[in-house]
Parts: sequence; structure tokens; C-alpha cells
Amino acid sequence: MLETKLITFKNWVSENGIIDKRFEYVNQKLTYYFDEFLDNHRALPMYEDYFNAITKCNELKFDCFTEVEAYVKLYFLERYRRFSLIFVDLIPNRIKINKEILMLDIATGPGAAMYALNDVFNMYKIYLEENNIKNDITLNIKYIEQSTYFREFLHKFTEILNLNNLDEKWLYKIPFHFELEDDYIKIHSNINIDKGYYDFQKPKYSFNLIVSSYFFTDINNLEYFGDSIIKTIKYLKNNGRMIIIGANAGNNVYTKIYEELKTKITQHNYGTKKFIGNCRLEFTKKYTFDTQEDEILNSIYDIRFNYIVSDLIGIKDKQEYNELILKLNKRTINVTELLGFIRYSKFRKKI
Ligand SMILES: C[S@@+](CC[C@H](N)C(=O)[O-])C[C@H]1O[C@@H](n2cnc3c(N)ncnc32)[C@H](O)[C@@H]1O
Repeated sequence: MLETKLITFKNWVSENGIIDKRFEYVNQKLTYYFDEFLDNHRALPMYEDYFNAITKCNELKFDCFTEVEAYVKLYFLERYRRFSLIFVDLIPNRIKINKEILMLDIATGPGAAMYALNDVFNMYKIYLEENNIKNDITLNIKYIEQSTYFREFLHKFTEILNLNNLDEKWLYKIPFHFELEDDYIKIHSNINIDKGYYDFQKPKYSFNLIVSSYFFTDINNLEYFGDSIIKTIKYLKNNGRMIIIGANAGNNVYTKIYEELKTKITQHNYGTKKFIGNCRLEFTKKYTFDTQEDEILNSIYDIRFNYIVSDLIGIKDKQEYNELILKLNKRTINVTELLGFIRYSKFRKKI
């Protein structure tokens, strides 16, 4: 067992600003990704998908690339940041690492949890080395994802992250070709958990960490995937942790989802614990989700939306961009005007 104190690693991370440096790196590479791959033909459909991704995320099938890119634009950095903070908080004490950390990400989408764990794991290795603590810990990640377009994103983005990166310490080892299953429902196949059949089987994998983020987004899919959840828990090592992430616990839909998850899990003699995080504060000081309009308006303060605006408008229009941001900061622009502006700029830039 590696003897380190949680507070020490956490302090080291914050003293070094290392988590912010990684965020900036990933951020820059994501911008590069969009500059490189977002061609004129794809720009407009992606723009439409972007708004669908805000308003009806649950209905998206991710069966085309523009939908996936819109989702990435909107949610990747936020999820990556949130997972980084969570992992720094949990490693090494609450997520124990003896020799290996083996993580499963259910419905990984663009893989934010995988990239974040990759980074935090590397931070932890550097931290151990700097403290002369010998170790040979390794990281091994598996995922489940049904969308081939998300898997294609994982492939491209991992290559971009590693492109021109000469520092071995920060390489991304994301298993884009090696998903565990494509469909989460297959995880329980014909195994009858209630009869204890599964318990006599030796699990194929033994994870110390299983994560799932914004996958259980309505009560119906919880019903549908109920057995799979229990089966997945049985893949955990002793002292392993499953982390399920979703929206604000105060949100009506999610309150029911979290309660239902708790009921399902505790029925099988596992314990649950609810954490209410405030990771959002890392991004912005002002951020509420009372109405759809607020969501769009307030998210302008958030890095992800700033990104979209700045990159649609482009450097040439810097003055206009500054004026727009000024107006937004003063709240003198309404959503329609904002969307119109972006749409107009998009056409002007691309055509
Ligand atoms: C809202 S996204 C969440 C993605 C990611 N976990 C995140 O937090 O950004 C839902 C993901 O579930 C995937 N998905 C939906 N049904 C699935 C299934 N039956 N098996 C595997 N993946 C599925 C979708 O393709 C999509 O990547």
C-alpha cells in the first residue's frame, strides 16, 4: 500500500496549479481539433445540433458526427474539469491504488472521465516521484459506448492530444479501439443475478473504479438498465467505488433518479453515498439553471460558451467579439439577439 495522505496530494496539485495547466492543454487541443476538422460542410449542421444538444440532449442518438461534435463543444470541458477535481479529491485515499487502477466508464461519450483520470493518474505518479516514493502503479481503462461517432472522436482526439507531445509523462493512453461492450444492456446478458448465478462466476474484470456520467438521465432507462447496474457493481473489487454523476440534486428529475438508483443498489446490500459538488464554481461566479433562457445566458460566462462564440466569430472580428462580450456582461443582449449574432457570424465566416 502506498502511504500518502490525501491532503498532501491535493495540496501539491493546487500549489502547482497542475490541474489548471492540464485543463489549458486539453482546452487548446480541443480548439485545434475543431479548427482542423470542422469544415464548411459540417459547420452549419453542427450549429443546429448544438442547440438540440442544449434543449433535448436526452433525445440525441449520436448517430452522426455533427451531433457528437456539438455535444463535445458543449459538455466536454465541463465534464473533464469536474472529473479531474473529483479524482484529485478521491485519489489515493478513497480510490485505493495498490498496483493498478482499473476503471470502467459506462457510456463514455467523448471520454471526459477517461482523459481526466489519465491526467490525474499522471499527476499522482509525478507527485510520488517528487516525494521519492517508489511505485510501479499502472492505469488501465475500459469503456462502454454505443456510438461509433463518439469512438471515432476518442481516436482522433487522443491522437491530437499526443501529437507533438514529447513528454512521456503526459501521454494519453485512451483505449479507443478496445471498448468492453458497445451496448450497456449486453453487460448483464442472460445472467440471472437474483438466483445468485453470477456469484459463482469469476468476474472477467475486477475494477477499482466504475464511473457513469449523465447516462442515467430518466427513470425509464433506469428500469431498462436495472439489472445491468447490479451486474456492473459486481465487477467492483473489494473497496472499489462506483461514481454516478448527473445534474444538480435539487433538480426534480434527478432527485427521482438518484433515489431510484439508491433503492436499486441498496436492495443488493451495497451502500450509497450522495455527494453534492460545487465544481461549477470553478468555472464561473454566476451560474443558475432556472430556465432554459437562463441556462444559455448564464453559460456565456462559462468557458465553453465563450469558446463557441470566439471561435465562430474568429480573430478578425475581435472588436465585434469584445462588444458582444461587453453587452453580455451587462446583460443588455437577449438570447435571440445572441443566437442571431452567432448565426450571422457563422455564415459570414464560412461562406
Ligand atoms: C448524455 S451522453 C453522456 C456522455 C458522457 N458520459 C458525458 O458525461 O459527457 C449519453 C451517452 O450514452 C451513450 N449510450 C446511450 N445508450 C447506450 C447504450 N445502450 N449502451 C452504451 N452507450 C449508450 C450515448 O451514445 C452517449 O455517449
